[in-house]
Amino acid sequence: MIITIDGPAGSGKSTVAQLVAQRLGYRYLDSGAMYRALTWQALQAGIHLCDSRALTRLLSRTRLTMRQTKVGTRWFVNGRDVTRVIRAERISQVVNDIAAVPVVRHWLHRLQRRIAQGGEVVAEGRDMGTVVFPRARWKFFLVASFPERVRRRMAQLHAQGHHVSRVSIARALKRRDARDRRRTLHPLRPAPQAIKVDSTQLAPEQTVAAILHLINPH
Ligand code: C5P
Repeated sequence: MIITIDGPAGSGKSTVAQLVAQRLGYRYLDSGAMYRALTWQALQAGIHLCDSRALTRLLSRTRLTMRQTKVGTRWFVNGRDVTRVIRAERISQVVNDIAAVPVVRHWLHRLQRRIAQGGEVVAEGRDMGTVVFPRARWKFFLVASFPERVRRRMAQLHAQGHHVSRVSIARALKRRDARDRRRTLHPLRPAPQAIKVDSTQLAPEQTVAAILHLINPH
C-alpha cells in the first residue's frame, strides 16, 4: 500500500508524512529531498541548473541513496551525507530550476518507484499522487493559509539557527510555490481523487490523527 501526501511548501507535509509513516510502520519517502540533493550536487559541480545536457551527464555518474535511521532519513550523493546541507536556504531558492528539467524528473521518478517497490510507503512531495504513484491507495493534498505557512517556515529556519526576516521568507515561499504550480511538467496540483486536508488550524498531531482516521476509521 502506498500513501501519497502532496502540497505546497510549509503545508506541514514533511512532519505529517513522517509521523503517519511512523505510526503505520511504513517507510517514508521525501521526494523533495531528492530534488534538493541533485541541486546541491549540480551546484558543487558548477553546472547550470537549466542545462539539461550537462545534467544528463551528471546523472550518469550520480548515485543517490537513502538510509532510514532511528532519528530520520539520511540522504547520500555518491556516498557523501548531504542530509543537512540540502536544507540550506540557498538550495530552497534554486531547487525549482532543476525540478523543471524533464530528464531530472524522469530520472528521479524511476528512483522513487524503485524505492517504493514492495509498498508500505508514505511518499511526500508535489507530484506523488498525480504522476509517480497514480494508483496509490490513499492520496492526500495538504494545504494551509499563506500566513501560517510563512510562520511555520520561519519557525523551522529559526530552529536551525538561520535568522531570516518574515518578508524575505514570504517572498521566497510565494515565488517557489508559484513556480511549482506553473511548471509545464508535473506541476503542483491535487490528484483528482486526493483528499484535501487544511492544516491551518491544526497541530501536526491533529492532522496525523485526521489522516489515520480516514485510512482506518476503527
Ligand atoms: O518538499 P521540498 O520543499 O523539500 O521540495 C523542494 C522542491 O523540490 C520543491 O519546491 C519542488 O520544486 C521540488 N519538488 C518537485 N516534486 C516533488 C518534490 C519536490 O518538483 N515531488
